[in-house]
Amino acid sequence: MSKTLLVTGGAGFIGSNYCRYVLQHHPDYRIVVLDALTYAGNLSTIADIQSSPETASRLRFYPGKIQDETVVNGIIEAERVDYIVNFAAESHNDRSILEPGSFIQTDVYGVFVLLDAVRKRGVARMLQVSTDEVYGTINEGQFTEQSPLEPNTPYSASKTGGEMQVRAQHITYGTPALVTRCGNNYGPYQYPEKLIPFFVTRLMDNRKVPLYGEGNQVRDWIYVMDHCSGIDHVLHHGVLGEAYNIGSQGERTNIEVTELLLNCLGKPASLIKRIPDPRGGAHDRRYSVNADKLTTLGWQPKHTFEEMLEETVRWYVDHQDWWREIVRKPDYQDFVHRFYGKSLGEDL
Ligand code: NAD
Ligand code: TYD
Repeated sequence: MSKTLLVTGGAGFIGSNYCRYVLQHHPDYRIVVLDALTYAGNLSTIADIQSSPETASRLRFYPGKIQDETVVNGIIEAERVDYIVNFAAESHNDRSILEPGSFIQTDVYGVFVLLDAVRKRGVARMLQVSTDEVYGTINEGQFTEQSPLEPNTPYSASKTGGEMQVRAQHITYGTPALVTRCGNNYGPYQYPEKLIPFFVTRLMDNRKVPLYGEGNQVRDWIYVMDHCSGIDHVLHHGVLGEAYNIGSQGERTNIEVTELLLNCLGKPASLIKRIPDPRGGAHDRRYSVNADKLTTLGWQPKHTFEEMLEETVRWYVDHQDWWREIVRKPDYQDFVHRFYGKSLGEDL
């Protein structure tokens, strides 16, 4: 049945891939994107689906912030929105260490504004895209949905705050909302500040890559389209008020990932520069996601890490116009200098 989906943060990495997923898998759905186009959001990230004759008429873009209730309510009314999937967030741990305030504005208050609009305007469902980082770190075993929420960084604490708004509004008002918690994503259109695209884009230019500490932290990697299919499954089949983990058994240490990237690009290990860990005690040692609750609901991931990592590297090699335009921008240069200047020194 035809639906109108509001995808907030749809000009970012995962949101844009979710738009592609929906346009392909739900031919009768329309998508409305609301995105503030922060440093991480770019119209070039959705240019393909905005300009393609097959999809352009099913996609409409609005610039704006999710904290702006006039904009949010206006769009829901004008577009007769059925579902909201909220990707909009400040999403980078390292930036949250430098400037935590904007994380509270978007990741907590913004979620409240969306939930308030859902309740008052009769939107049928809202899915809040959250992260495994709300659980904190785990030395052994896996995070289940029952694990305590123990966030350790300003970013993960702000995401936990957003989730708590979902929980409380569902319990208090019956607001029809639910949550997904996913591990680390990789794939096309990821902003080149996160580990994989940061390292790939630097290695392509024979520049050193800053590995924090020993590089022995473990992340549970998932290909972005598996995350998108998981979100879509929860949106349509999940129980309101519940949270669902999304993961695909993709645990790798940072050094393992770095070595695979060097291998894919045919670059020497001398390009790795180990630097003192800039996250200090806030650097979570290991994430590991148990997704049994979602697989019991009928979802399965389709991709394996090594195969899709290679394909992702190839995507960055083939789409240099996209990322070179971003890394040339003053805000990107400014962040890299502020965050890595001291530790990378002349290798910056
Ligand atoms: P991203 O930083 O690439 O994109 C975020 C998008 O949100 C950008 O387009 C940005 O312009 C937009 N945005 C930021 N603030 C906004 C605001 N106030 N109003 C409207 N739009 C705003 O992030 P991403 O990696 O695509 O992550 C998307 C979501 O998924 C986030 O909520 C993040 O917490 C969550 N998540 C990410 C990962 C990951 O590995 N990247 C893993 C699990 C969960
Ligand atoms: P990141 O991609 O920032 O995601 P998250 O903080 O959400 O896990 O980082 C992934 C891992 O890679 C994390 O353990 C920190 C590490 N890392 C580096 O070693 N060097 C880097 O330059 C970056 C960006 C990350």
